[in-house]
Amino acid sequence: MEAAVRIAQLRTEIERHNYRYYVQDDPGIPDAEYDKLFRELQTLEAQHPELVSADSPTQRVGSKPLKSFAEVPHRTPMLSLNNAFSDEEVRVFDTRIREALGIPEVEYAVEPKFDGLAVTLGYRDGVFVQGATRGDGSTGEDVTENLRTVRAIPLRLNEAIKDVEVRGEVLMLKADFIKLNDVQRARGEKEFANPRNAAAGSLRQLDSRITANRRLSFFAYGIGLCDGVALPGRHDREMDLLRHWGVPVARQCRVVRGLDGLLGFYREIGALRAALPFDIDGVVYKVNDIAQQRQLGFVSRAPRFAIAHKFPAEEVMTTLLGIEVQVGRTGALTPVARLAPVFVGGVTVTNATLHNEDEIRRKDVRIGDAVIVRRAGDVIPEVARVALEHRPADVREFVMPITCPVCGSHISRQEDEAAWRCTGGLFCPAQRKQALLHFASRRAMNIEGLGDKLVEQLVDTHIVNTPADLYKLRLLKLIALERMGEKSALNLLAAIELSKHTTLARFIYALGIRNVGESTAKDLAQHFGSLDNLLVADADALQQVRDVGPVVAQSMADFLAEAHNREVIQQLREAGVYWAEHQPQPATSLPFSGKIFVLTGTLAVLTRDEAKEKLEALGAKVSGSVSKKTDYVVAGAEAGSKLDKAHELGVAVLDEAEFMNMVGQVSVA
Ligand code: IVH
Repeated sequence: MEAAVRIAQLRTEIERHNYRYYVQDDPGIPDAEYDKLFRELQTLEAQHPELVSADSPTQRVGSKPLKSFAEVPHRTPMLSLNNAFSDEEVRVFDTRIREALGIPEVEYAVEPKFDGLAVTLGYRDGVFVQGATRGDGSTGEDVTENLRTVRAIPLRLNEAIKDVEVRGEVLMLKADFIKLNDVQRARGEKEFANPRNAAAGSLRQLDSRITANRRLSFFAYGIGLCDGVALPGRHDREMDLLRHWGVPVARQCRVVRGLDGLLGFYREIGALRAALPFDIDGVVYKVNDIAQQRQLGFVSRAPRFAIAHKFPAEEVMTTLLGIEVQVGRTGALTPVARLAPVFVGGVTVTNATLHNEDEIRRKDVRIGDAVIVRRAGDVIPEVARVALEHRPADVREFVMPITCPVCGSHISRQEDEAAWRCTGGLFCPAQRKQALLHFASRRAMNIEGLGDKLVEQLVDTHIVNTPADLYKLRLLKLIALERMGEKSALNLLAAIELSKHTTLARFIYALGIRNVGESTAKDLAQHFGSLDNLLVADADALQQVRDVGPVVAQSMADFLAEAHNREVIQQLREAGVYWAEHQPQPATSLPFSGKIFVLTGTLAVLTRDEAKEKLEALGAKVSGSVSKKTDYVVAGAEAGSKLDKAHELGVAVLDEAEFMNMVGQVSVA
């Protein structure tokens, strides 16, 4: 047989087995047979290199390691879902939707809520070109090479769609998780706590050859942007379309009507849960009709037309051995329960939060008690309540310390706050350690390899006192530390070096200013354009920034009032930390200078004011009425007469997705 023909046959057959294994949960052949087909294809391709193509299954083997993941702005934001924990909350959801739509019964698409990691897959002309994690919803990490190794993800769609984003979840099947842990154990390597962690750890490998050796799976749950084909206007049909393109869609997806339909599905899937080949943490309900979805729109980061109905958190009983007080990055004192180890929600738990002193009193928790520990999904385990009927006679009351248990500083509690705080600031080693960990964290300066054990040693030995000291670390100092070989030390130094090139937003976030989270840091960076502008901004100037109010302004002022903080910033810059500063551009050179826009209807992601602000920042004029001079009309849901007028005058009309595309990256908090 001619090689080209056999190669084509093998490729089809291998992908068919992939589909059976990952989508139909019905491996057609044993692993050894599969490997045989795979090796035959590899051999043939090696003999005929001209026949190798990027979408061949043999290309799913990973490529050379990356230094770091690049950032990818999402062209349409990746949103999250609101949760319901009871039938009652679902009833309220359904009532709200019926009332908003003015109809007696709603048709819903219902799906499992996959317990994995959200990703977006970009296809151009039907070929997989880019994949990214969700990140903060507006920017994710480029994990294309890793996703290419996931056999459940088609490298080519059955149709050459011009431009489409497939949204879904990467996960590890339970069976593959068990096999992976067997291998890890046999090799004396770390086992994973649950399939979700295993999937996350495998997807976030800089070396995609490692990902290739971990069997990951994928299920789609939606379409982001789509250009080149008209979408069918119903969620279930979109899912059919995905199936038709060869994208895995879970078999359990269905259409139901009304509240009874929703709750029926919840119970049905609940009963099936243990037997499913993958972990789920609930079900998702979505209004099926896309026009109705648009009409309902979004509240901040979540759609109004969908909700996740979560399974109850798992609860188990164990013994409270003691209560320790931890000091966090901002000095908050958190009592933490030390527990007799117990398996709950897929992991062994030895610590659980008790939140604060008031909670301990309210729940009447005493040391030595039998306590009920609860853990839902990836949430930190908590002590839910005391099993009073099991209370031993010799329990002890917990006493909150009167000074910081780490540095001995005075502690204080503000009237409106539940937490006591250590007033020691960066004098307190606990706060210093947490500040360093935050500084180095993935979304801040992203210094890989700087974990808590190492920070602990660096702070305790006074080698590192401030973030700036990280940039003064030298090899000899590092290898003198416990458990630090030359290779890890060199890797760490390389990671520190790499972190010097950052963005202003990351830098601001890394400083760990109270109340300045990632999205505020982004807004500040965008608004001020340079660090120097930010450093001289007074409270009024700060409050000009979107979402910045008196609280953030005060936190900024407090932070900058400390000479020490300014000094650290200066030292970091001297150490060579840098980013590109974009000065405000003169009005005439802006991309939309001279263009006139009209906004109409309800936009889903931005408010009308935000859209206006965005356009004006890009140089456009936003007008209230449509005329021949109008360049674009942006039409949201329920657009009315202005849209008609635009059609009448032949003015270009953009829907929200096209508009977002045009104005570039959207920021979703
Ligand atoms: S839809 C606009 N459907 O849950 C809504 N999400 O809490 C976008 N997830 O980030 C999400 N299964 O990672 C949707 N069947 C499903 C899902 C699902 C799991 C995850 C997803 C998302 C998170 C939201």
